[in-house]
Amino acid sequence: MAVLRIFLLGAIGLISHSALCAQTGASNSGNSLTESTTRGPHFDASASKNVTALLGKTAYLNCRVKNLANRTMSPQVSWVRHRDVHLLTVGRYTYTSDQRFRAIHQPHSEDWTLQIKYPQHRDSGVYECQVSSTPHLSHFIHLTVIEPDTEIVGGPELFIDRGSTINLTCVVRHSPEPPAFIFWNHNDAIISYTSSRGGVSVSTERGETSRSVLLIQKAKPSDSGNYQCNPSNARPANVTVHVLNGEHPEAMQHGGNQRMGPSLGALAFISYVLLAYC
Ligand SMILES: *[C@@H]1O[C@H](CO)[C@@H](O)[C@H](O)[C@H]1NC(C)=O
Ligand SMILES: *[C@@H]1O[C@H](CO)[C@@H](O)[C@H](O)[C@H]1NC(C)=O
Ligand SMILES: *[C@@H]1O[C@H](CO)[C@@H](O)[C@H](O)[C@H]1NC(C)=O
Ligand SMILES: *[C@@H]1O[C@H](CO)[C@@H](O)[C@H](O)[C@H]1NC(C)=O
Repeated sequence: MAVLRIFLLGAIGLISHSALCAQTGASNSGNSLTESTTRGPHFDASASKNVTALLGKTAYLNCRVKNLANRTMSPQVSWVRHRDVHLLTVGRYTYTSDQRFRAIHQPHSEDWTLQIKYPQHRDSGVYECQVSSTPHLSHFIHLTVIEPDTEIVGGPELFIDRGSTINLTCVVRHSPEPPAFIFWNHNDAIISYTSSRGGVSVSTERGETSRSVLLIQKAKPSDSGNYQCNPSNARPANVTVHVLNGEHPEAMQHGGNQRMGPSLGALAFISYVLLAYC
């Protein structure tokens, strides 16, 4: 009798111990490394990240699945476009008729990659990596397609006082390669750095973000007008420069400042009102 009671107590102890373990195991799921080898298929989120792609430059969406197959089960990994629930790939096969998509998978690899050639803005959105286990598992990856962007700092209008330096900085971001060259135009004519005007210089710095700084010393009213920055492989950008002839001392400053716009407008309005009452 005593032996049986000890056995029962032991059994209850064992059960409650395993229940406790199961509970702590569940609360740890997702970050316990030792457990990851014993559970079924799951995603490696650190190797299956959101992707930012350049317009037209081949993009790769990766999905890494751990413990995908065992002796009895071998689930498939599929890619589904969320926007229209379109099945793109299943395993190593490409299902969609859109030839820009391709499934890439090396045997024995944990990576199931979706290749997208010539990505367009409309390809931006959510892609689902799905594992056909029971129940299904899903991991969502956001693709963002961006394009080169050109900006002239302080634009679209710059007010500069006569005699000071016009300093225009053109910034080119997200170009597939640094631009081979960046041209500057003034009222549609290419700016010459060796013209008789003198005092015109440019310095260009190429990289992931490229910068071209155009400096025009001793600004004259004839330097007013539209300035355009033309990178070889990105859209142009432009600013309108107003060289002030000393008529509004309050608006004068070194370098450009867009915020001068409204106050100038207000000044013009006040002058107009004063004139109207004369
Ligand atoms: C992926 O992008 C979406 C939308 O921008 C965001 O909500 C999500 O947190 C991102 N996921 C990761 C892992 O960064
Ligand atoms: C094999 O994996 C499936 C789920 O994918 C799981 O239900 C099953 O228990 C696993 N079998 C073995 C022997 O690990
Ligand atoms: C021109 O402006 C940029 C910022 O837009 C600044 O970094 C640079 O020092 C300026 N150069 C001169 C000569 O004023
Ligand atoms: C200047 O830029 C604006 C806005 O990007 C654009 O609408 C305009 O056509 C450009 N003007 C010239 C002369 O390039």
